[in-house]
Order: sequence, then structure tokens, then C-alpha cells
Amino acid sequence: MEKRRKSGSVLLLAFALVLASLASASGSSCSEDSALEKDRVQTLPGQDFNVEFAHYSGYVTVDEEAGRALFYWFFEAAEDPASKPLVLWLNGGPGCSSIGYGLAEEVGPFHVKPDGKSLYLNPYSWNQVANILFVDSPAGVGFSYSNNTNDVLSNGDERTAKDSFNFLQKWFKRFPQYKGRDFYLSGESYAGHYVPQLAQVIVRSQKSTGDKSVNLKGYMVGILDLGFFFDMESLIFGSFISTLKSKGSFTQK
Ligand SMILES: *[C@@H]1O[C@H](CO)[C@@H](O)[C@H](O)[C@H]1NC(C)=O
Repeated sequence: MEKRRKSGSVLLLAFALVLASLASASGSSCSEDSALEKDRVQTLPGQDFNVEFAHYSGYVTVDEEAGRALFYWFFEAAEDPASKPLVLWLNGGPGCSSIGYGLAEEVGPFHVKPDGKSLYLNPYSWNQVANILFVDSPAGVGFSYSNNTNDVLSNGDERTAKDSFNFLQKWFKRFPQYKGRDFYLSGESYAGHYVPQLAQVIVRSQKSTGDKSVNLKGYMVGILDLGFFFDMESLIFGSFISTLKSKGSFTQK
């Protein structure tokens, strides 16, 4: 397992290098259209099969003054992406890469084979049913970075949610066809913090600006971490309920 992870990261690094060279080869025009084309991924090292769907990857600056940028990788749905919802996926930690885990080992289409050199298509990828967007968050995690080193030491839930919201607003400028699309947040573990906190920022912004381009329909979190207090409470309350159930004195309404 350790070995697989390690070789997986080497391959991911290779992905990044290829992406970076693609990006520099096509110059640095600033219109969003060319930004979109620049982000298009054609093929990957270790990929010996074709895919029907388009995918894009790159950086979105979330704070210009600090030089903070989040890295994303977006996969269109395998069939008829225009009719499918948009789903954002965030891994937890804090400190786990959504690219390294969510995409390459969990719900993404490209998984790394045990040889660490080649890829295979995950038949259970969520892009079978949705357009799925992986973001390394916060800055300092995975390929996301800040040019102000202090940022990485002072990350917190509040700034993470704000950065993610800034990311989304700029990402929708690059992908305007997804504006107003049914949108869901998802993630696991410490994303039990990131996801509802981002949902709150989105809802508050909608209320104050009336702008519905980020059309949040719902969120889901798995094996979540809500913090020690809530986890303990659900652990204790959960075992209390199962004790009641096992004695047959608990009636469900
Ligand atoms: C960070 O600094 C590098 C080197 O000056 C620059 O090329 C890059 O655009 C900066 N990143 C951001 C997000 O401003």
C-alpha cells in the first residue's frame, strides 16, 4: 500500500510536469477562453487508452496580493455533460490532496495501477453520472500554493471557505456553460468542515447579492469529521440508541 502510494505520487508529479509544460507551450494570454483551452488535458503519461470525455486542469488565483492559487482538475461527464449536474469533491485531512486521493484512488476516472507507471479507467468514477471537479484545498495542499509562506502556516476554516468561494466564482468565469447548473458539494473526513462551511458562504452571498450563478442544490459528506465534540456526541448517543434498540424499548417514530 505504502509503495503504491509512493509510486502514485511520482506519477502524479509527472502529470503536473506535463500539465505545466502544456501550459507554458501555449503562452500566457489572459482571456478566459484561451485559459480554458490552455487547461485542456490531451493525454497523460501512462495512459494507453482513449477517453470520450474532456478534462481540464490548472490554477485559479484566489488572492492576488498574497499570490495564492488553488489547483483543480475537472472531468466532464462521460455522456451528455450538458444535462448532468456539477459536483465539487474535497478531501479532508486537513492536508489530503483531492487529486492524490479523491481523483486517483477514490471517485475519479484515472486510477494508478500497482506498477505506479500506468493508469486504468475506474468504472465506478463519478463522472459516469456527473461533471466532477476536484480541488486541492486549502493552499499548501497538493499542488495548491501560496507565494506568501505565512499563508500555509495560518490556514484556517474561515479562509479556506472564502478561498474556495473565490475559486468557484473565478472557475465559473472560465467555464460559463456551468453557471446556474445544479451544483452539489461533496467530500469526506475533514471536508465535514469544509463542505458545510463553504455551503454557508455560498448561501450568504446569494442572499446578499441575489446572484445564483453558483446554483447550490445540496451537499453530502462521508466518513465525516465534525470535530471532537460532535464526534463524541454521536458516538455516545449512537451507542445509547443501539443499546435501547437491542433491549427492544426504543420505538422509532
Ligand atoms: C507566484 O510567484 C511566481 C513567481 O514570481 C509567479 O509566476 C506566479 O504567478 C505567482 N502566483 C500567483 C498566484 O500570483
